[in-house]
Amino acid sequence: MIGNFPLTRMRRNRLNQMTRRLVAENKLSVDDLIWPIFIVEGENIETEVSSMPGAKRVSIDRLGAYIEPAAKLDIPALALFPVTSKEKRDPTGTESYNPDNLICRAARELKKQFPEMLLIGDVALDPYTSHGHDGIVQNGYVVNDKTVEVLIKQSINQANAGIDIIAPSDMMDGRIGSIRQALDQAGFIDTQLMSYAAKYASVYYGPFRDALESGGLLKGDKKTYQMDPANRGEALAEVELDIKEGADSVIIKPGMPYLDIIRSVRDKFDIPIVSYQVSGEYAMLMGAIQNGFLQKEGAILETLLCFKRAGANAIMTYFALEAAKLLKTQ
Ligand code: PBG
Repeated sequence: MIGNFPLTRMRRNRLNQMTRRLVAENKLSVDDLIWPIFIVEGENIETEVSSMPGAKRVSIDRLGAYIEPAAKLDIPALALFPVTSKEKRDPTGTESYNPDNLICRAARELKKQFPEMLLIGDVALDPYTSHGHDGIVQNGYVVNDKTVEVLIKQSINQANAGIDIIAPSDMMDGRIGSIRQALDQAGFIDTQLMSYAAKYASVYYGPFRDALESGGLLKGDKKTYQMDPANRGEALAEVELDIKEGADSVIIKPGMPYLDIIRSVRDKFDIPIVSYQVSGEYAMLMGAIQNGFLQKEGAILETLLCFKRAGANAIMTYFALEAAKLLKTQ
C-alpha cells in the first residue's frame, strides 16, 4: 500500500474489452468443436430427443441439409451415433460390423457431400446389443477379450465406410492396441484412434441412452467397465496405457464435473485431449436456459471456454453449432 492506495491493481488488466482481449490466457474457437449427431433409419425424419431440447435424430436423406450449416461455419468434425432399431439388435451386436448398417451408410453419404469434414465413429456395442451393454455378456458379466474381437470388426467396418477417426468408447482393456494393429494390417495406417481413455460410469449419460433408445434395454449398470467417479489416479493410468497402445488423442468424459481430470492429464501427458460435454450436461443447461434461470449465450460460451482453461484441445458438445454461430458474431 502507498498511503491508502494498493500498489498492485489487478483490475487494470480488466479495464476494457481491448485489454481483456490482449491478456486472455485461453480462447474458444470453431476449430475446437466436434458436433455429435444422432442418425435414425427411415425417411424424412428429424425429431427432437425429448430430454435434449434442440438435439435431433435425423434420417440419412435429411443429413445433408442438417449438416450444411455446420460445414459452412467450418466445424471440423462430427461424431456419429446410430439409433439401431430393436429388430437389428442381438446379444453380440452383429449389426455393428454389417457394411450396410446405419452408420456406414451415413458415413458414405456425408463423405460424398462434405469430403473434408472429419467423421468420428463411436466404437462400442451398446447401440447394437439387445441388452444395451457395450460388450458381450456372459453370466451377467461383460467379457473383455471376446468383446475386443467384435470391436475390431466394428472398427474395420467403419474405416471401410470412410470414417476418419475411430473412437472406442467401450472401456475394454487392451482394445486400443488390438484395434491399431488390425487397422494397420488392413491398410488403414492413417485412420486415427481417438480413445475414450477416461470414461466414467456416469448418471450424465441418461439422455443419450434415451436418444439411442438403449436406456430401456440396459440391465444393470456399466460399473464393471466404466470408471468410478471417485478416482483420479486411475484416469492417468488409463491414459498412459492408451498412449502406449497407440492412441492419437484421448477423450475425457463427462466434461464439466471432471475438469480436474482434464487438468491432471494435461499436466502429465503431451497428447491432444478431447473433453466431452455429455448429454446430461446439455440437458441440465438447456433445462435452466429454457426456464430462464441461465442466459443461453453466456452459459454456452463460458462452459466451453472452461474446458480450454482446464487443458482440453477440442470439445465434443451438442452446443457445437450454436457455439460456432455465436463465435462468428462475437
Ligand atoms: C456408448 C456411448 C455413450 C456415450 C457416448 N458413447 C453412452 C454410455 O456409455 O452409456 C454418452 C454420450 C452422452 O451422454 O452424451 N458407449
